Amino acid sequence: MTELSKSGAAVGEPVKDSPAPSAFLEVRDLKVHFPTDDGLVKSVDGLSFALEKGKTLGIVGESGSGKSVTSLGIMGLHTAGQYGKRKAQISGEIWLDGTELLSADPDYVRKLRGREMAMIFQDPLSALHPYYTIGQQIVEAYRIHHKVDKKVARRRAIEMLDRVGIPQPDKRVDSYPHEFSGGMRQRAMIAMSLVNNPELLIADEPTTALDVTVQAQILDLIRDLQQEFGSAVIIITHDLGVVAELSDDILVMYGGRCIERGPAEKVFYEPRHPYTWGLLGSMPRLDREQTERLIPVKGSPPSLINIPSGCAFNPRCSYADVPKDNVTRTVRPELTEVGSQHWAACHMTHEQRERIWTEEIAPKL
Ligand SMILES: Nc1ncnc2c1ncn2[C@@H]1O[C@H](COP(=O)(O)OP(=O)(O)OP(=O)(O)O)[C@@H](O)[C@H]1O
Ligand code: SF4
Ligand SMILES: [Mg+2]
Repeated sequence: MTELSKSGAAVGEPVKDSPAPSAFLEVRDLKVHFPTDDGLVKSVDGLSFALEKGKTLGIVGESGSGKSVTSLGIMGLHTAGQYGKRKAQISGEIWLDGTELLSADPDYVRKLRGREMAMIFQDPLSALHPYYTIGQQIVEAYRIHHKVDKKVARRRAIEMLDRVGIPQPDKRVDSYPHEFSGGMRQRAMIAMSLVNNPELLIADEPTTALDVTVQAQILDLIRDLQQEFGSAVIIITHDLGVVAELSDDILVMYGGRCIERGPAEKVFYEPRHPYTWGLLGSMPRLDREQTERLIPVKGSPPSLINIPSGCAFNPRCSYADVPKDNVTRTVRPELTEVGSQHWAACHMTHEQRERIWTEEIAPKL
């Protein structure tokens, strides 16, 4: 993850007319808000990060933290009725390969989708049409961006199905989605996402609902394909273990904001935010007894409508009283550098966090 320029890192301030970044993908102060009868839902509220080609960024956070809304926003799909009919309010900047997408012509963004950027959706059934064969759908996805006849596109579809490990691809190409198992459908969707060799691939919880063996195969597949095509990959999951293994960098989301980001090994082995400590404690681990495996982060996620002042993690944080002058309850902590390329948003001092991590948290994990 390339570190942001000063202006890019200034979470909270829209940065207009700023120069194009050098990173392949740079998201600056992204906000996606949804007007609802109950008020404005601030699903993503000032998110900034950068990603280079050939690198993988893992986005992790519990349910409702804004991971899918972030990816839909990058893909220009936040308004596509995926989550409701009212128009989302989106602001900030999304730079892809030198072009700012939020201010770009929607037709241009539509053309990029599927060709330069593609997404593996959380639910493959929502992305595959039930009335068309898998082959027809991959052929269609390919022909939108390549002027080739159906025969050539069909050969390409079979090649992609083979590439993602679907047996007898020349026969299965004519199957309908319901004739595939969950794992096979996920593979078919990956084949469709990758048919145009996208330079940016967003995989939104690509393994939820799959059994452990298939999960591992799908993750290996994404890694192999990334190495082959040199794409930039964003992988989204609840599971810090998965992102630690696959990613170069990790971004931890809480209540629509980033609370920690940095190189994967730093965030995983030297995390500096109490919420990340909680996520690590809730990770399934093979070396633990079943009974002591999952200790979920206690409490519930913050409201995205009435966001309290101060630190959003305060009601759930065991260390809320550690920072002096009660600053935690009134001032929102901004991301500050806690190590090389490593940022966390917490009012505790560096020394306080280092001591708590080393003496209290790490020995129990
Ligand atoms: N159209 C919408 N209207 C109102 N609220 C919305 C809308 N779309 C998303 N949200 C809310 O935004 C928040 C973030 O949703 P999002 O789908 O990004 O979560 P997530 O991190 O992907 O969670 P999960 O891990 O369960 O997939 C949720 O509270 C969700 O209810
Ligand atoms: S700022 Fe305070 S409440 Fe928030 S994570 Fe840090 S210690 Fe916990
Ligand atoms: Mg999601």
